[in-house]
Amino acid sequence: MIRIEQLNKTYRVDGREVSALTDVNLEIGKGEVFGIIGRSGAGKSTLLRSLNLLERPTSGRVLIDGEDITRFDSRRLHALRQRIGMIFQHFNLLNAKTVAGNIDWPLKCTGSLDAAQRAERVAELLALVGLTEHANKYPTQLSGGQKQRVGIARALANRPQLLLCDEATSALDPETTQSILRLLLDINRQFGLTIVLITHEMQVIRTLCDRVAVIDGGRIVESGKVVDVFLHPRHAVTRGMVAQSDPLTAAMLDPGHAFAKDKLRGTLVRLTYLGDVTYQPILSHLAAATPARFTILQGEVSSIKDLPFGQLLLEFEGSEDDISKVFAELDRFEIHHEVLQ
Ligand SMILES: Nc1ncnc2c1ncn2[C@@H]1O[C@H](COP(=O)(O)OP(=O)(O)OP(=O)(O)O)[C@@H](O)[C@H]1O
Ligand SMILES: [Mg+2]
Repeated sequence: MIRIEQLNKTYRVDGREVSALTDVNLEIGKGEVFGIIGRSGAGKSTLLRSLNLLERPTSGRVLIDGEDITRFDSRRLHALRQRIGMIFQHFNLLNAKTVAGNIDWPLKCTGSLDAAQRAERVAELLALVGLTEHANKYPTQLSGGQKQRVGIARALANRPQLLLCDEATSALDPETTQSILRLLLDINRQFGLTIVLITHEMQVIRTLCDRVAVIDGGRIVESGKVVDVFLHPRHAVTRGMVAQSDPLTAAMLDPGHAFAKDKLRGTLVRLTYLGDVTYQPILSHLAAATPARFTILQGEVSSIKDLPFGQLLLEFEGSEDDISKVFAELDRFEIHHEVLQ
């Protein structure tokens, strides 16, 4: 659905050229939830805003359904933007309008429905985002999560094919974040809507996205399925972001850390597994089938979107022969294992 080719963006600041995006290439499929993650200033907003040309690339092409939108005249661009909804970190609601008025606004601008049809559509959207009872309130009377629901309803008003989300949940508390992410996932599944979202939070990517691209210094440094990128990060920036949610492992793998120096005697191995094997009694099997002794140092058993996974950091003690028996058993269960030290 979206194809970004050789995209570059430079800003002119005090007479100097500052590069915000360098040679970005991406493909995003129809119905996909695609995440772009990176640190502050990495170029996420610039990249997202290139998809509806709120930001004009310096060079390169942005193809949507096969057409290069950078060549569109203003009439076609206007029509395109009606097919693309956008939600913002700080909601950007019209404070002088009610909840219903905010959702009605884009319908009014498009001008293709009469007043009765618009009222019907607004009621439908209010129900979708669970705000029917708040229709006549003003934005200042709403909580952050409710404001973002208005932002989502407004973005969906004209039945877009593509939804762009710029840090849609970073102003919200964790529980409200989860409810907004669930709403976005429902919308994606119910309407087959393609969603591109940017975030600096790995948790958002894990909950919602099918694929992810990691951006750093204006370049895409890694991209792929969320499970692959999350469980086997290759680039240092990605590893850093994954480790943020797992400071203990990061500390243990730091050779300067007291724990690693003093306490580790055996072989440190990280096991990663996906799917049904998550529910198998792997550890008791290892204990029974091999003479190696093991200690669990860190572990997470959770899911990435709908896929259960486990990742355990174990220290094995035993002879080389014992350890190779462990590895043979792990291979038998198709459990990925990686010796860390
Ligand atoms: N209008 C502008 N003029 C000059 N430089 C800009 C402009 N907009 C962005 N930049 C620069 O481009 C780079 C990328 O900015 P961008 O807003 O895309 O980052 P981001 O990844 O969205 O960051 P954040 O997570 O903080 O929102 C930054 O170095 C920023 O200072
Ligand atoms: Mg930004």
